[in-house]
Amino acid sequence: MSRRKQIYEGKAKILYEGPEPGTLVQYFKDDATAFNNQKKGTITGKGVINNRISEYIMTLLNEIGVPTHFVRRLNMREQLIKEVEIIPLEVVVRNVAAGSISTRLGIPEGTQLPRSIVEFFYKADELNDPMVTEEHITAFGWASPQDIDDVMALALRINDFLIGLFLGVGIRLVDFKVEFGRLWQNDEMRIILADEISPDNCRLWDIRTNEKLDKDRFRRDLGGSEEAYQEVARRLGILPEG
Ligand code: C5P
Repeated sequence: MSRRKQIYEGKAKILYEGPEPGTLVQYFKDDATAFNNQKKGTITGKGVINNRISEYIMTLLNEIGVPTHFVRRLNMREQLIKEVEIIPLEVVVRNVAAGSISTRLGIPEGTQLPRSIVEFFYKADELNDPMVTEEHITAFGWASPQDIDDVMALALRINDFLIGLFLGVGIRLVDFKVEFGRLWQNDEMRIILADEISPDNCRLWDIRTNEKLDKDRFRRDLGGSEEAYQEVARRLGILPEG
C-alpha cells in the first residue's frame, strides 16, 4: 500500500495514515524477530493469521466493554485502528511461569503462579525493554498513578476473558503482552487497548500435551511455527476463512 503515507515501521507491523483523521491502517507482516532483533526470520502467512486472530479477540473485547483501538479489518493483512498516543510500556500478565520470569526468579517453566502477576517493561529497544516498577513509571512521567490503575484493571480483565476463551478451545494461556494508548475525545482522555493480541505476544500451550502454539516455536527453533499459528486460528473457529 505504497500510495499511503507510512507513519511507523515496527518489527512485525507497519502503520499507515488512515482514511480519516484519528485513524491509522495497521499492516501485519510475516517478519518474525526475537531477542530484540538478534534473531530474524519469517513465518509464512503469520501476518494474515495474526490480523484475523487480533480482529477476533479485539471484537469480543469491545463487546464485553474493554475499549480497544480496533475499528474493522480491511483486508487479509490490514485493519483500521484508532490513532492513540502509545503509553511506552509493555504490560505482561502471567498465569504460569515461563520465559523471563522463570530465568529471573528461578521458577521452573510450567509452574502455576499463586495468582496472576502483572509486570511492566519500558519500551526501548536500545535498552532491551528493561523491567520497571510503578516508581519508575510515575517518576519519569510515562504514566500517572491513575493511568497505572486503569492499565492494571484492563490488563486483568483481558486476562480473565482470554483465559476462558482459550480454555474453551483446549489451550492454556500461560502469559501475554499488551500495550495501551491514550485516546482523547471531547477533552476527555481514555486508556484503550492498542497493538495486537496474537500468538506473537501470547504463550499458548495445548491443555493436554503442553505443546507450544505460539512464537516460542520460532524463538526456540522448535519448527512448525506456521502450523501452530494456524492451529490456534482453527481452534478459535476462524480458519478456513468463511
Ligand atoms: O519474555 P517474557 O517471558 O518476558 O515474555 C512474556 C510474554 O510477553 C510472552 O507471551 C511474550 O510473547 C510476550 N512478549 C512480547 N514482546 C516482547 C516481550 C515479551 O510480546 N518484547
